[in-house]
Amino acid sequence: MRVTADKKIPFRRVMVTGGCGFIGSAVVRRLIAEGVAVLNVDRLTYSGSPTTVEAVAASPLYEFARMDICDGAGVAALLTRFRPEALLHLAAETHVDRSIDGPAAFVETNLVGTFTLLQAALVYQGGLSPDDAARFRFLHISTDEVYGSLDFDDAPFTEASQYQPNSPYSASKAGADHLVRAWGRTYGLPVLISNCSNNYGPFQFPEKMIPTMILAGLAGRAMPVYGAGENRRDWLYVEDHVSALLAILAKGRIMETYLVGGGAELRNIDLVHRLCDLLDALRPNSPHRPHHSCIRFCCRQAGSRSALRDRERQITSRNRLGTDRKLRQRIEADGAMVSRQRGVVPQIGGEQRCGCAPWPSWRAPRQRGAGMSGART
Ligand SMILES: NC(=O)c1ccc[n+]([C@@H]2O[C@H](COP(=O)([O-])OP(=O)(O)OC[C@H]3O[C@@H](n4cnc5c(N)ncnc54)[C@H](O)[C@@H]3O)[C@@H](O)[C@H]2O)c1
Repeated sequence: MRVTADKKIPFRRVMVTGGCGFIGSAVVRRLIAEGVAVLNVDRLTYSGSPTTVEAVAASPLYEFARMDICDGAGVAALLTRFRPEALLHLAAETHVDRSIDGPAAFVETNLVGTFTLLQAALVYQGGLSPDDAARFRFLHISTDEVYGSLDFDDAPFTEASQYQPNSPYSASKAGADHLVRAWGRTYGLPVLISNCSNNYGPFQFPEKMIPTMILAGLAGRAMPVYGAGENRRDWLYVEDHVSALLAILAKGRIMETYLVGGGAELRNIDLVHRLCDLLDALRPNSPHRPHHSCIRFCCRQAGSRSALRDRERQITSRNRLGTDRKLRQRIEADGAMVSRQRGVVPQIGGEQRCGCAPWPSWRAPRQRGAGMSGART
């Protein structure tokens, strides 16, 4: 999705948390390209890297502060000095498997960190002039995993669906969503919440599914597919997500929740075959061609991490794409609904929305110190 020219971002100074991560860095790059001054606040955990924003680091519009969002005094000082007109909150611990191994970091960053930001933002906003205070926005970026899973006969999700998180990750994000909502309702902080499906695109950390598959295929290692690969996920190109976020920031109603999907649902096995086709085309001289030969079907045990995650996403995706027609603010496959309501138009259409076009152009996902030869965009 692209924000149309008449819907320019009505903010000149924006604070972004988690702007050295996958989605946050795409937000930062876009804002700078649109002429918006950005303060990027990021602790640089294992999943954050300054390389993700290298392209804009020299811009006079760009500023970086290495800081933990749990540092209330530090965040308050940044707000007072930078005086943002809006805050986009993307800093988080994000990997489901890690949340099962070590949930404490998820509670700390996703819950305590969000609480700390809300408090600091509230004090900051309260000190603004009435006009500036009314224009200020706090956009919290969350996940569709907060809605948990449904039986196939259940009614589809809506933005009013009950929260039923199934992992420590989704529970911590759900808790953060509730905090954001409460700070809006109780204290009048002008908040918005967005819940999106699986993103893909440049600079995604290699632990996530698509980069994992690409790296394995490039190296001729096994590309692990659980079960028969029948599980389905909805895939959202990260640049489309950024367009949706900026449209929500510009046009969204305070206290609303916006669900953002890509309208590109694929069975896992079909996704992996597409990746193999692309790798074959991109690496015609690879000794690992055809890359389809790298696919390995793995068993999983009931209750395992992969089972938990895939069951959640499969059912969520099915409802999002197939039957979930009641979502008032959802971005549909053709973008029509949000086009009408929010002034955005599709950037990528049809087959390309399933990712065939973007993948060759970004080729290599972010990788630390592994010396992969693929180019980065
Ligand atoms: N990637 C997806 O498919 C997806 C789907 C739904 C929702 N989301 C949400 O979008 C947001 C961004 O996700 P992502 O995939 O870009 O994550 P990511 O893991 O790539 O990036 C997270 C960033 O947050 C920073 N960070 C972590 N803890 C911090 C702390 N305590 N203080 C300051 N910075 C900290 C990290 O250094 C990193 O730069 C998250 O809130 C996530 O829940 C992501």
